[in-house]
Amino acid sequence: MPVAVVVGMQWGDEGKGKIIDLLAENVDVVARYQGGHNAGHTICFNEKQFVLHLIPSGIFHKDKLCVIGNGVVVDPQALVEEMRQLEETGIDLEGRLLISDRANIIMPYHGTSDKGRESGSGFEKIGTTGRGIGPSYADKIARAGIRVCDLRDEAYLTERLRANYEEKQKVLKSLYGTELPEFKEMLDELMSYRETILKYITDTHILMRDQIAQGKNILCEGAQGTMLDVDHGTYPFVTSSNSTAGGACTGLGIPPTKVNKVLGVIKAYTTRVGEGPFPSELSDADGERLGKVGHEFGATTGRQRRCGWFDAVVARYGVHLNGVDALVLTKVDVLDGFKTIKVCTGYKYKGKVFPDMPADPVIQANCEPVYVDFEGWSESTVGIQDYDKLPKNAKDYISRLSELVETPFMMISTGPDREQTIQRESLF
Ligand code: GDP
Ligand code: IMO
Ligand code: MG
Repeated sequence: MPVAVVVGMQWGDEGKGKIIDLLAENVDVVARYQGGHNAGHTICFNEKQFVLHLIPSGIFHKDKLCVIGNGVVVDPQALVEEMRQLEETGIDLEGRLLISDRANIIMPYHGTSDKGRESGSGFEKIGTTGRGIGPSYADKIARAGIRVCDLRDEAYLTERLRANYEEKQKVLKSLYGTELPEFKEMLDELMSYRETILKYITDTHILMRDQIAQGKNILCEGAQGTMLDVDHGTYPFVTSSNSTAGGACTGLGIPPTKVNKVLGVIKAYTTRVGEGPFPSELSDADGERLGKVGHEFGATTGRQRRCGWFDAVVARYGVHLNGVDALVLTKVDVLDGFKTIKVCTGYKYKGKVFPDMPADPVIQANCEPVYVDFEGWSESTVGIQDYDKLPKNAKDYISRLSELVETPFMMISTGPDREQTIQRESLF
């Protein structure tokens, strides 16, 4: 029985939340494997809209287990707030939400450090979400992190927080002139969240192992996207975790031999929030139109997303890196009414054309996109559920994209709502 990984193929915000929510109907477990509350996954049904940051996108389906894996960094305050909001809308979390005891915690000093580095250091500004994601992962790798299991043992937690507090206080003061709140205040606040969270904490690796052994259907939910992966993305303008499919194994404790399928979610054009190279970015009326029609504002920070044409170099790179079996193409409806639609097929730099993604930030930032033009369509595709009902030019665009990225489109999304979807193949 399948374990499928759902991964973002661009710079995040591809519509993963919508697709995971939709697929969740036919699975038993939805498990987030990396990132933190930097993510914003939007889900729309029954004329309502929800944005999830930490809690997996299967939560709106009553009987599904939702796992926050060890690879996620958990801000207890953000988690408790999100749990409260969901409970307010009548969602029952008990027995369904399971938080890994091995996940690392985001502490207030991580946010201070994130914002300090962004505003006052000699490094490039990344345009982070300011949520403390990078510093928390940095502490994890430096073996200084505080983990969710530490909440079970107050004495150990106090000792570990003390060591961190003393170090961070000196560093943050000397680098950014920032004062941390009193130690006791920080500890008390953490302990206050502990009461709410404790009953949801478990060894999720054992849960995943048992669910796999029982032949359950499992969806591993990626946050961010391939180009934001810390190893494979547009470094240093990336997030601090492995958002690519391999992250599902390390971030959930699933052996690679148990993953059966990888599904990539990709927008019919491209967006990016924050700084960093974006070869097919548009700074003209077309870009403005994509942003306006596509409502391209960050689901977490509300920042305006940068917009550009579909980039087949990015897409092919993601297909190969993630081992994508099938793709889901989202936001096709946003292209309605464009006279000409362009697709980037290569990067030109100093007379040379790169068909593949170069590692060098200078090339990524200064290359010229090589475009192929497609004739647009004037008809509306909003809400279409049947592939044959799409305008001819939309079908041609989709089939050419599929050829360019050497991968079939399993689903096509024609609006934000669950219902606004063309299902061509089922996942399992
Ligand atoms: P995620 O981070 O990948 O889950 O994506 P976000 O939720 O941050 O951003 C995707 C945005 O596009 C959300 O506002 C969705 O409601 C919306 N959306 C998803 N699919 C479609 C679609 O096919 N058409 C349109 N117009 N909007 C969509
Ligand atoms: P979802 O899951 C889009 C971007 C930030 C910034 C960079 C690093 O909704 O697709 P961070 O706070 O992670 O250290 O910021 O990554 N970023 C996202 N962009 N969608 C996201 O998540 C993102 N999460 C982080 O804008 O450029
Ligand atoms: Mg998002």
